[in-house]
Amino acid sequence: MSETVLLIGSGGREHALAMALAASPQVARIIAAPGSDAIGRIAVCRPVKADDPAGLTALARAEGATLAVIGPEVALAAGVSDALRAAGIAVFGPSRAAAQLESSKAFAKAFCARHAIPTADFAVFEDGASARAHLATLEPPYVLKADGLAAGKGVIICESAREADLEIDAIFGGRFGQAGARLVIEEFMAGEEASLFVLTDGRTHYPLPVAQDHKRAFDGDKGPNTGGMGAYSPAPVYTPEIHAEVMARIVEPVLAGMAAEGTPYTGVLFVGLMLTRDGPKVVEFNARFGDPECQTLMALLAAEGIDAGGLLVACARGRLASVPPIPPLAHAALTVVLAAQGYPEEPMTGSLIRGLPGAGQVPGVTVFHAGTKIDADGAVRAAGGRVLGVTAVAGSVLEAQTAAYTAVDRIDWPMGFCRRDIGWRAVAG
Ligand code: AMP
Ligand code: GLY
Repeated sequence: MSETVLLIGSGGREHALAMALAASPQVARIIAAPGSDAIGRIAVCRPVKADDPAGLTALARAEGATLAVIGPEVALAAGVSDALRAAGIAVFGPSRAAAQLESSKAFAKAFCARHAIPTADFAVFEDGASARAHLATLEPPYVLKADGLAAGKGVIICESAREADLEIDAIFGGRFGQAGARLVIEEFMAGEEASLFVLTDGRTHYPLPVAQDHKRAFDGDKGPNTGGMGAYSPAPVYTPEIHAEVMARIVEPVLAGMAAEGTPYTGVLFVGLMLTRDGPKVVEFNARFGDPECQTLMALLAAEGIDAGGLLVACARGRLASVPPIPPLAHAALTVVLAAQGYPEEPMTGSLIRGLPGAGQVPGVTVFHAGTKIDADGAVRAAGGRVLGVTAVAGSVLEAQTAAYTAVDRIDWPMGFCRRDIGWRAVAG
């Protein structure tokens, strides 16, 4: 069967998903909501917002969509997957109830405790005095988290008790609004981080190659946290032994636990891992692909000759059991994010970006658009914080890094910036 796919979202991740779907023999047509100018080159875009379940269901019916692929978390949290499923459409993405693994830190931590899934010890506080009393029993560094969604800025790591005191005052003083009404204090986990993405249709789980993200804005992992300034895959630090342990002690218990609690998980489970001396532990779960990990993985799978769009279809259709596992990789992929100056605080939009065709001609390179406007004459302008993702595939992470920066250097955009050290851990090791 050839699918008519409704793709929900508009960022770099969704541009990569659109390209994977467009390349799949299982997909006849793609409608994107709301999509972007770049996605509009390969799909029909309709101006319906990602968090509008009724609007998206009406659009899916009007366009004869047979299947939906959900990119962003806002759509999951708004109940878009539930509404589309109720309308008889196959969906890639978990229900709103299952997506709580991402949308509520308190739910995720309690779930891990119920199912003995390794994660940092934690305690929850509603006032400064009891938080301070607890802090006195711990060693620095201290990990403080606002309980609710705080746009990725809710985690503070403090090196001293004095600094932690000031942060506790600020959090209970309303710095994060309602999200900071409760404070989570976590055990600090030392180690390297890795992002594992597992596709699951509720019966079969299908892990993708592991990726590493670069969350800080500037070289040397300095500066504020961002949505991600670059990624690569595979990550040499993540050995087959670690993978076996992650599957047995984390992924399988999570999926079995969600099913046993009546909220079976389907779609992609994003497990943020800390590889500690005591074994792998969960930092966080997300209910969607990472951005820019998705761009990296879609390009890698394509280079391996795998129909990545077909994998999303098989997942939504409950047919993962019939898909062969990913063979040993012959390639590595690396993505460098180009962001507008001022990102993440106040990105400056509207500036002109030149040189993209030349960048795209570097062998193995794809330029994904995360936040651009394309004028009628083809001129490309910045229209977001993270604006472009330059992804290269090659025989190794080092070669992919070289190719990606060769392409980056062909882009003429004085009002943008990028990190120059994406992949440093893999390249040094
Ligand atoms: P989160 O929003 O929970 O993913 O946290 C953002 C970042 O803070 C993570 O990617 C880690 O780098 C860091 N982090 C969060 N929790 C811990 C922890 N318990 N120990 C050490 N680092 C942490
Ligand atoms: N790059 C990490 C994320 O998408 O959450």
